[in-house]
Amino acid sequence: MSRQQAVLVTGGASGIGLAIVEAVLAEGWRAVVADLDQANLDRCRNTFGSSAGNVRFERLNVADEDAIVRCIASCEAEFGPLTGVVNSAGIGRDVPALETSAELFRTILEVNLIGSFVVSREAAKRMQARGAGSIINIASVSGIVGNEGRVAYGASKGGVITMTKVMAVELAPLGIRVNAIAPGPIETPLVKEVHTKEARAAWMSTVPLRRYGSPEEIAGAAVFLLDDSKSSYITGQTICVDGGFTSAGIITGTSAALASTQAAGPAAVG
Ligand SMILES: NC(=O)c1ccc[n+]([C@@H]2O[C@H](COP(=O)([O-])OP(=O)(O)OC[C@H]3O[C@@H](n4cnc5c(N)ncnc54)[C@H](O)[C@@H]3O)[C@@H](O)[C@H]2O)c1
Repeated sequence: MSRQQAVLVTGGASGIGLAIVEAVLAEGWRAVVADLDQANLDRCRNTFGSSAGNVRFERLNVADEDAIVRCIASCEAEFGPLTGVVNSAGIGRDVPALETSAELFRTILEVNLIGSFVVSREAAKRMQARGAGSIINIASVSGIVGNEGRVAYGASKGGVITMTKVMAVELAPLGIRVNAIAPGPIETPLVKEVHTKEARAAWMSTVPLRRYGSPEEIAGAAVFLLDDSKSSYITGQTICVDGGFTSAGIITGTSAALASTQAAGPAAVG
């Protein structure tokens, strides 16, 4: 059995972050739900009422450096040492590059990239004293390939992936592992709001598994990376949980047609 963990999850009150909080609690570990959205935090507080003592709620804006420093200090003092951190707080907007303002670009970098950096840095300062810790950054397939409309979002997530590698190298001697998860399209409130019918059709045609993923499928990878008994030799990696999206080239459906022809037996071939 793995040791009891205490994991801070930013953006933990919705979507992927919320599924990770649920998975952490299901492991018998403890969780800090840190999120900007008070209404979602209140909803979580009601849902997790029965886990009282194992879960703490923090209203946090990851674009506010001072607030992050205060939040991590109070969590460590009042909740106990953090063994893991998941940076899931994120924002996105689909805007063509030529229409993207510097202000929008900065806003997205501020939350997705710099916010994740400051949370990781502050948590790692505490973890180093104990010589152990696991940090996970929720990146995106848009940080790996050039998805249309994602000039700011994709750059922020590409930055997250490189930041993950640098921090993994620097923190390895301190016993702290740093990894990223790059989700493909995942059915969350964010995606329900942003993905148009056309966007959905486009994703479906480029994901080999032909479906959106669930937040729980990201949470499974997160629990694995948090758990030293399962992933102690993994650091600096970006694991794509994307239904095969980043491995795909042309998808014509020909191989599925071939497979069904073969299943029908030799008579059908001739
Ligand atoms: N859903 C997808 O298809 C998908 C794909 C790839 C990557 N991601 C990434 O996964 C992460 C979670 O996305 P989601 O789909 O679950 O979205 P979501 O909107 O359901 O959840 C995001 C949470 O982050 C919180 N948040 C936003 N700005 C914040 C801030 N400044 N400080 C603190 N909290 C803040 C929101 O209140 C919300 O609760 C994001 O980083 C997103 O970029 C999502």
